Amino acid sequence: MGVDMITIRPLSEADVATAAAMEAEHQPAPWPESVFRDELAAPSRVYLAADEGGLVGYAGALIVVDEAHVTNVFVEPGHRRGGLGRRLMVALIEEAVAYGARHLTLEVRTRNEAARALYASLGMVPVGIRPGYYGDDDALIMWAHDIDDPSYLEGLRRES
Ligand SMILES: CC(C)(COP(=O)(O)OP(=O)(O)OC[C@H]1O[C@@H](n2cnc3c(N)ncnc32)[C@H](O)[C@@H]1OP(=O)(O)O)[C@@H](O)C(=O)NCCC(=O)NCCS
Repeated sequence: MGVDMITIRPLSEADVATAAAMEAEHQPAPWPESVFRDELAAPSRVYLAADEGGLVGYAGALIVVDEAHVTNVFVEPGHRRGGLGRRLMVALIEEAVAYGARHLTLEVRTRNEAARALYASLGMVPVGIRPGYYGDDDALIMWAHDIDDPSYLEGLRRES
């Protein structure tokens, strides 16, 4: 199935077990079910799922006043490099803007070249380093400002 057969919808409680199992299998610091549950129950969060008849990816953000802090982005390995990570991020940004966000930020492992390239493709720029943030790696702090500017979102959609 192509990426266009995949639906983006809100991540829900029913996805938690699958999402945590994906994390446990593929992520260096996996989120357990409890973290997904707490996040989904907490206020000021936006969490989206990529659904192809089953969960194949997800992305989430915490909205702090007018800043969206990306908390997690994951695409199941068999579905990578097909544009799904970008599609999830664009949808997440649209939701965050609808929620009142004007700026977008996240931390990413400096050695995570796939994620860094994805975020750069969304106009995010590195602004600093948090040394040892991940224990075995530093965090690169990235920002995109004025994501509520219609020309920013139009540009993203045009490139998608
Ligand atoms: C990062 C991640 C979400 C990307 O998902 P994806 O569906 O493969 O991404 P896309 O296909 O939408 O790629 C969008 C762009 O990102 C960049 N990119 C993605 N994967 C890349 C890779 N392995 N190497 C280099 N660039 C890459 C490219 O610029 C790509 O555009 P292109 O395909 O036109 O060249 C995925 O690799 C993943 O789940 N990784 C593990 C979890 C993770 O690291 N999350 C981020 C935590 S901060």
